[in-house]
Amino acid sequence: MRKTNPYTPGAGFMPAYLAGREKLLENAEKYLLSLQQRYPQRSVVYYGLRGVGKTVLLNRIEEIAEKYDIIYDHIEVKEKSGFIGQLTKTSLKFLRQISIKEKAKDFGSKVMMAIKSLSLTYDPQEGSFSAGMGEFGTLIKPEDVLADNLTDVFLSLGYAAEKSGDTICLFVDEIQYLKRMELEALVNAIHRVNQKRLPIMMFAAGLPKIFKELGEAKSYSERLFWFEEVGALSEEAASLAIREPAREQGVAYSERAVRRIVDVTKGYPHFIQEYCKIIWDNCNERNMIDDKQVLDSEKDFYASLDNGFFRVRYELCTAKEIAFMTAMVNCGALPCNISDVAKIMKCKVSAISPVRAQLIRKGMIYATRHGEIDFTVPQFDNFLRRIQRQEAIS
Ligand SMILES: Nc1ncnc2c1ncn2[C@@H]1O[C@H](COP(=O)(O)OP(=O)(O)OP(=O)(O)O)[C@@H](O)[C@H]1O
Ligand SMILES: [Mg+2]
Repeated sequence: MRKTNPYTPGAGFMPAYLAGREKLLENAEKYLLSLQQRYPQRSVVYYGLRGVGKTVLLNRIEEIAEKYDIIYDHIEVKEKSGFIGQLTKTSLKFLRQISIKEKAKDFGSKVMMAIKSLSLTYDPQEGSFSAGMGEFGTLIKPEDVLADNLTDVFLSLGYAAEKSGDTICLFVDEIQYLKRMELEALVNAIHRVNQKRLPIMMFAAGLPKIFKELGEAKSYSERLFWFEEVGALSEEAASLAIREPAREQGVAYSERAVRRIVDVTKGYPHFIQEYCKIIWDNCNERNMIDDKQVLDSEKDFYASLDNGFFRVRYELCTAKEIAFMTAMVNCGALPCNISDVAKIMKCKVSAISPVRAQLIRKGMIYATRHGEIDFTVPQFDNFLRRIQRQEAIS
């Protein structure tokens, strides 16, 4: 019988073997169990580059939540669509699960009212948030209305869950796409449920820029969240990610083959899956993969990344943005400084600052902690170099 390819390159595709995340998963389980025992927990923010495995990590933690009968839901924030609409649906789902239990029924109507008010704060047609009217006719700013209403939803859900003996966990993927106002409101709501010792927490994942954005949203955010980095796999973990899926089908890799794959992929999970899938398809049912098969597939591996993973992101950029990113590569070393980019582009920093901001908003680049800039897609600089070379030839 033909062997089935066990590798899973793809956004959020759970790998046959999830390597190197034991410590993060152990921590997550500990936080969930402590919350279930009614000890308030900090929420967790996983941050890392594209394709390192943030989404699959969240999905695996959802399985843990499921195992302990914790009520949970998963929201993937979209670049351009309304988070509040998604959160309203999720809150209704939470409420349905809580209010099945008789004892929490009285709390249900309060939650319902809070959800209704929240849904009225946002007008999806206009894409805007509405202001409110306070006592004596004073105007309340939209950001305060949103923060108050979101906090009411979390608090009322929290009280209902406390009454029914439930625990609630919200999973938010691509959190970097939240608008500043939404992020601030979310942080505010989480802060209040922590203060009230209510059984709600959040696991979120996003690009590295979220670190800075949460800090800017609320100065106390570093005490409210655990920030845990999801990075490339260590050599040992990468070796397991390569070998384990194949082992189940009686296929082994030589030491040199594994070393070569780790060298080329630098331990990035998406690259490992992509490379191993190609090697598997090219190696015609062999039971032993050695470095020759790995080398023979290298060209196909780069072609596949260039036509897929890198290309789709490249195509989303304007000519100006591409010129900016090419100048970043030509700075020589990454992360780089915007003033060096400006020098290479022979213009003033002020002229290219809007392009930088736009690329950050799109999630193509991010500002490091020291204010320099780097790509969010691993090895994107090498891809741009390959493009430059091709353009020079043609
Ligand atoms: N720990 C791991 N071990 C082996 N493979 C993994 C691991 N984590 C992720 N992968 C694989 O890497 C790929 C990318 O995973 P995932 O989509 O979760 O990344 P991501 O960080 O969410 O990326 P993005 O920022 O683009 O959303 C998938 O093909 C997945 O199967
Ligand atoms: Mg993801």
